[in-house]
Amino acid sequence: SGKNQAQMEQVVVNGSESHLVVVDNPNLLQKKMSAIRLAGPAKLQVIADFDATLTKYWIDGCRGQSSHNLLQQEDPEYNVKRQKLYDYYHPLEFDPAIPLDKKAKLMVEWWEKTHALLIEGGLTYNAIQNSVAKATIAFRDGVTELFELLEEKGVPVLIFSAGLADIIEEVLKQKVHRSFKNVRIVSNKMVFDENGRLQSFKGKTIHVLNKNEHALDMAAPLHDHCDDLNGLGDEKSSLKKRTNVLLLGDHIGDLGMSDGLDYETRISVGFLYIGS
Ligand code: TMP
Repeated sequence: SGKNQAQMEQVVVNGSESHLVVVDNPNLLQKKMSAIRLAGPAKLQVIADFDATLTKYWIDGCRGQSSHNLLQQEDPEYNVKRQKLYDYYHPLEFDPAIPLDKKAKLMVEWWEKTHALLIEGGLTYNAIQNSVAKATIAFRDGVTELFELLEEKGVPVLIFSAGLADIIEEVLKQKVHRSFKNVRIVSNKMVFDENGRLQSFKGKTIHVLNKNEHALDMAAPLHDHCDDLNGLGDEKSSLKKRTNVLLLGDHIGDLGMSDGLDYETRISVGFLYIGS
């Protein structure tokens, strides 16, 4: 009928990077955009994955690092051990032949083993700061400007990540050099002991395939995974009333990030990487 014809478009961002954008249903997208525009900023919220969604997949021809793999523990033996886990589990994460339920179990295994190695190695916040300073990590072009615009318009941004909250906070500090009133992070949050060493993680582990189970957290005032970073606390209950969503992700599991919301209109953007 042509009604549901996918549309491909070459888009140039900031005059430098060129992206191929595929729109599954252009008519529907136009309708959603109009509905969101009509309802205005008071009805909108943005929910975004972090690694390779807000951050660049490629940086000057090198693979950008994730919040996990930028981390250098004091004892390098632990970095080797975590890398071995990555080499084994990462291909499974993106293996289309593994059914999702089986894959979710494998992801739990991976996350638990990695978290255990971080604790066993006695990670310090100092190591996090040094690791971020040396990391190959950068926000995509336009992310800072987008956050600024959304802050100006009073639109909340939820960064929903299966990575590490403390590292994401440090990346924001070091790479953006400012905090945003409207940005909150829901991710695996560390607890340090009195000697400043990692002791445990707060709450239930968030991995790439169980974000849907944590989607309600965004509206829970004092949930384990959320630090009331920038005084967005007052607005938490109203997040559920923001029924228009711009969802940004790079993983099938990211679609579950808005499951806690009874949304009216959702525009989902998926970032896909091909070649180098
Ligand atoms: P995301 O939710 O922000 O995309 O973060 C999850 C990514 O972290 C996922 O793609 C796998 C990656 N990861 C590592 O690189 N090393 C690890 O040890 C673990 C557990 C995950």
